[in-house]
Amino acid sequence: MELKLSVRIPSRQEVCRMLALFIMMSVVQRVQPNDVVQENLKLYQLDPVAKGHVRLFEADPGRILRVETKALQPPVFEIPDFLTPEECEYIVGRALNEGLYPSGVNDEAYYNSLANSEDTDEDDVDTTEEDSPTDEETTSGVFNELDVNNDMVLDAEEVLAVLNTENTFLRPKDVLQMYSDLNLDPDSDGWLTLDEFMILVSNDRLMDVENWVWKRTGHQENRIRESKQAWLGQPGPAKDPILANLQKRVVSLTKLPETIVQWSEQLQVVRYETGGHFHAHYDSNELDSDMECMRNGQTGRFCRFMTILYYLDDTLRGGETAFPIADNGTYSEKATKTEIYDLSQHCHDANLFIKPEKGKAVMWYNHYINQTTGWMGDLNHYSLHGGCEVLEGTKWIANNWIWVDDSYDKHVEHLESVQKALEDDDDDGRGTEETKASLDLAVPQEVHAVTDLQKELDELERVNVHGRRHHTNGEL
Ligand code: OGA
Ligand code: CA
Ligand code: FE2
Repeated sequence: MELKLSVRIPSRQEVCRMLALFIMMSVVQRVQPNDVVQENLKLYQLDPVAKGHVRLFEADPGRILRVETKALQPPVFEIPDFLTPEECEYIVGRALNEGLYPSGVNDEAYYNSLANSEDTDEDDVDTTEEDSPTDEETTSGVFNELDVNNDMVLDAEEVLAVLNTENTFLRPKDVLQMYSDLNLDPDSDGWLTLDEFMILVSNDRLMDVENWVWKRTGHQENRIRESKQAWLGQPGPAKDPILANLQKRVVSLTKLPETIVQWSEQLQVVRYETGGHFHAHYDSNELDSDMECMRNGQTGRFCRFMTILYYLDDTLRGGETAFPIADNGTYSEKATKTEIYDLSQHCHDANLFIKPEKGKAVMWYNHYINQTTGWMGDLNHYSLHGGCEVLEGTKWIANNWIWVDDSYDKHVEHLESVQKALEDDDDDGRGTEETKASLDLAVPQEVHAVTDLQKELDELERVNVHGRRHHTNGEL
């Protein structure tokens, strides 16, 4: 059967009207997500207001703390005394009890064995050259891709784009050292031409390069992360009263549904010794509909909506948490990519760094909120951050990562699977009562009685800003 559609070309007025309607609709969607999304299905994000803004927060009955805005992009907040000294000591004690193991790399033993064998095979560097390139066309394609500034030579920074991987952190000077150790840059000018690059990627030289890099990764300064860690408890409502109280406190600070907070990751406790560090990185990944969120140790990607980091002890020197590009993407115009990420040697070049102090919490959002759905939005690229090198003493932190799936439906699906798993597991102490509650994603109501104090504080802030302006005028 044949369907006949009569198509009429719309008049200009009609097109204009349709366009106007379309624009109006998109504006309404953008500025009033409440119309589109039910209030209780939205994620909440604390408004940073302004740098230096202080809001009050009742951590426990009668214990009122200051939440200070440190950056707007990403929103970063600092909360001194979020944990009591006793709570800090308790968490450290539990981590020690649990046993700490090296962070990030499961093949630590392998790195160490390579590092130890370093001296023995130093001399068998193969100096024979000119193996035929694997595939000339592919190689020159790769060369062109790496040659970001199109000057037909690769500088050390450009080569680092392939050498630095998940665990490895090499600097340009390391690349030059490698050229010299492996005789990869015969004219020693520090640049690789296409011909020199062809040699580097030829079969037997590539092995040398890989071995060289593996060995280097055995040194702590050439690792992305140098620390030890332990995970406490398991996801779900904490049974331990101290951790349960902490979960409650996080709920009232973040104003997120209790079930989101409870069914996030366990606390990750981290210890950095002197020399320890964690170069700049993102805690979360880009949204990706083709890959599931990694929940409970499965493979997948990180879906860490926000990070709440606790300092569990005072660090003597160094160990700041740094946000190299917070509040603007410029950093320093002269800085190379490696320098921006390098929190051993460029910690204080960061736009924002926060000093570790026992009990203090730092909280930031790794993702935006999607204004249309009101749920988890894109990764916020300004949230790049890390732990500066500890210069003296030991640094203890705990990461409290809040997990949110890409969509409300996905999140509910996850909670349902958790619920089912718990119901199937008869031996689990957690009853179905608690798991039923896990499907409740309603946003909690404001319960704090700090409104009057907050008003006073806001007034003070207003007067201060006013006063400061006068003061500056007077000085000029
Ligand atoms: C982390 C992290 C920062 C710090 O563990 O993911 O970014 O100050 N730590 O240790
Ligand atoms: Ca180049
Ligand atoms: Fe981090």
